[in-house]
Amino acid sequence: MATASEIAAVGVIGAGQMGSGIAQLAAAAGCAVLLLDADSAALSRAVASISASLRRLAAKGQLSQFGPQTACEDSIKRIRCVSTVQDLRDADLVIEAIVENEDVKKQLFVELDEITKASAILASNTSSISITRLASATKRPSQVIGMHFFNPPPIMKLIEIIRGADTSDEVFAAVKSFSERLGKSVICSQDYPGFIVNRILMPMINEAFWALYTGVATKEDIDTGMKLGTNHPMGPLQLADFIGLDVCLSVLRVLHNGLGDNKYSPCPLLVQYVDAGRLGKKRGLGVYSYAQKSSSLKP
Ligand code: NAI
Repeated sequence: MATASEIAAVGVIGAGQMGSGIAQLAAAAGCAVLLLDADSAALSRAVASISASLRRLAAKGQLSQFGPQTACEDSIKRIRCVSTVQDLRDADLVIEAIVENEDVKKQLFVELDEITKASAILASNTSSISITRLASATKRPSQVIGMHFFNPPPIMKLIEIIRGADTSDEVFAAVKSFSERLGKSVICSQDYPGFIVNRILMPMINEAFWALYTGVATKEDIDTGMKLGTNHPMGPLQLADFIGLDVCLSVLRVLHNGLGDNKYSPCPLLVQYVDAGRLGKKRGLGVYSYAQKSSSLKP
């Protein structure tokens, strides 16, 4: 099994909001990155956004934190888009960031277990799904681990590492020091629904939806209340839009099913928005509309 400094080739599966940022971080840290998505349009969008983001960071002089290899254009060249799981056979570490659905993720872990080399570490960026259950889809549960980045990965300082029931100490140590090589701080969670951050964050977001749904206040006042009243950098409804309302709903369902407490039952308004395709900023419409300019908030 590769130690952190030996992790040279990283496979990233899912080139959406999270996978594109994770690919960018690994490339900027000097790794060869193989980026895979079922949707070729997602890959094109990812390459464009990674290039723009790296150029912005380089212009601000902020790429140097990752070391000398990180000249912007070199980092971009280290990312290769691929179209099949077979293309990941030589990866030392694979990080999966596909849709938050346990059955779909398990099927992917079965394929990864068959295709990747015996020493490869298989990581999931899941927000809430059990690492132990994902690991049980493989014949190498000691080499499966949760590596939970935050959105957007190049900016957010944290990686939450989740140990499955069988994750080995060596794999934990390698992934911890690899995370530090990416410039992140690390926290470690045991494998319980929602881990640490989403166990605490998602009930707050859900409560904000209940406040909106039951007419306690407008969305703007709910968000301003939490920003100015509790010193959060953004309100819970805006944050939900940034995370993706589909992701928030999936996590709440995992908390509800896994912890068996009705306090985690998703607010009907959140369910309705997702049913209507209002998935948040990534779709231009969630609680707020982002149709004109991605950074502007419009009621
Ligand atoms: P997204 O919807 O932006 O991207 C998901 C990508 O995965 C899409 O491009 C889709 O085409 C691709 N995909 C889906 N199934 C696939 C498959 N079987 N094989 C290959 N590609 C596939 O989603 P996002 O927000 O990037 O989330 C991805 C994962 O990261 C989820 O597990 C989510 O819970 C987790 N996560 C999300 C965070 C957020 O703030 N959005 C934060 C931390 C974790």
